[in-house]
Amino acid sequence: MHFQLSEEQIMIQNAAREFAQELKKGVIERDEAAQFPTEFVKKMGELGFMGIMIPEIYGGAGMDTMSYVLALEEIAKIDASAAVIMSAHNSLVLYGLHAYGTEEQKNRFLKPLASGEKLGAFALSEPEAGSDASSQHTLAEDKGDYYLLNGTKNWITNGGNADIYLVIAQTHPTLGHKGINALIVEKGTAGFSIGPKENKLGIRSSDTHSLHFTDVKIPKENRIGADGFGFKFAMKTLDGGRIGIAAQALGIAAGAYDLSLAYSKERKTFGKPISNHQAIQFKLADMEVEIEAARLLTYKAAWTKDQGLAFGKEAAMAKLHASEVAMKHSIEAVQIHGGYGYVKDYHVERLMRDAKITQIYEGTSEIQRLVIAREILKS
Ligand code: CAA
Repeated sequence: MHFQLSEEQIMIQNAAREFAQELKKGVIERDEAAQFPTEFVKKMGELGFMGIMIPEIYGGAGMDTMSYVLALEEIAKIDASAAVIMSAHNSLVLYGLHAYGTEEQKNRFLKPLASGEKLGAFALSEPEAGSDASSQHTLAEDKGDYYLLNGTKNWITNGGNADIYLVIAQTHPTLGHKGINALIVEKGTAGFSIGPKENKLGIRSSDTHSLHFTDVKIPKENRIGADGFGFKFAMKTLDGGRIGIAAQALGIAAGAYDLSLAYSKERKTFGKPISNHQAIQFKLADMEVEIEAARLLTYKAAWTKDQGLAFGKEAAMAKLHASEVAMKHSIEAVQIHGGYGYVKDYHVERLMRDAKITQIYEGTSEIQRLVIAREILKS
């Protein structure tokens, strides 16, 4: 066992760190105006971040999950919204298309997504199917050479800005989860409309929408995998997605820590920097320990995936712990900053708001515990 990054991994980490400095410009304003970072997403495409784990023959950068995690961590330290845009695109859309798509689907849909020319969104959640993901009400009726899609999806990250959507829908209701399919749906298809943007607590510059499908005709060749593979496809996709959210949460926690450490050395009370007070030292020490533990869990989950081993439990453990650490320590960061932490200029209040969603999306903390417990009990 060794804990050293490869030269390539260090290179991508440095590139992401440098890019994150660019993201700093306007991050407060984008958050306040809930403005999608269009130009930065384009730049992430140019840097290879929008197809980071996809082989070069399909327009990607051909790197490993570990590199992906390192890049996400650096980006989330500065702008967690940009991180989730990148994470949903890579983990929830590109992964599945690459792993289970046909050659034709890869050439037609994966290539423009992996090169950053197009943006992807993953549509699983519904008004009545959040944690209970198999309870799909969106119908994809089999009409011979096409599916007729009807229903509503909720909370879709990249929902307004995406070009290509992976939509999970029920085809054979009597078969339960075995009757579900995953379909590739293009923006602009007749009958497909996008609801208004959600006004969120955090990750405000990523866009979240509902999607509406009314008699949308989807050609059969847009189905991913065999008939009825959709639920397993979604579960496998979410396993990888949870590593991305763990990295996002880790970045939020580490960003809050970096700001708190710097502030504690500058800010003076009772005639000395607050870092000289034991009350602050204890907080910084706890942050250092718990963030490093979250980092090790997240890197281990990425490493396990890169080894081609089963990684569902590792991903859930990383996501569970990193999101709890992000929440706990972004609150501590506000506390260390005192009154300054409560205003926007010091960034930590935004990180605190951004942290909360990491305990909710791609499975709540309760769902992660369920996934972990099932794996423990199986073995
Ligand atoms: N990989 C492969 N197959 C899996 C699997 C996995 N990780 N998990 C379950 N399956 C399979 C099971 O083996 C089973 O197959 P068989 O019938 O052949 O045995 C089948 O799927 C059904 O499994 P379960 O009975 O365990 O399914 P369940 O209905 O009890 O649900 C659950 C399990 C873990 C609770 C699941 O519903 C779940 O993950 N819920 C959370 C959903 C979620 O994360 N939603 C987030 C939406 S996306 C999002 O948030 C994106 C964003 O904005 C960024």
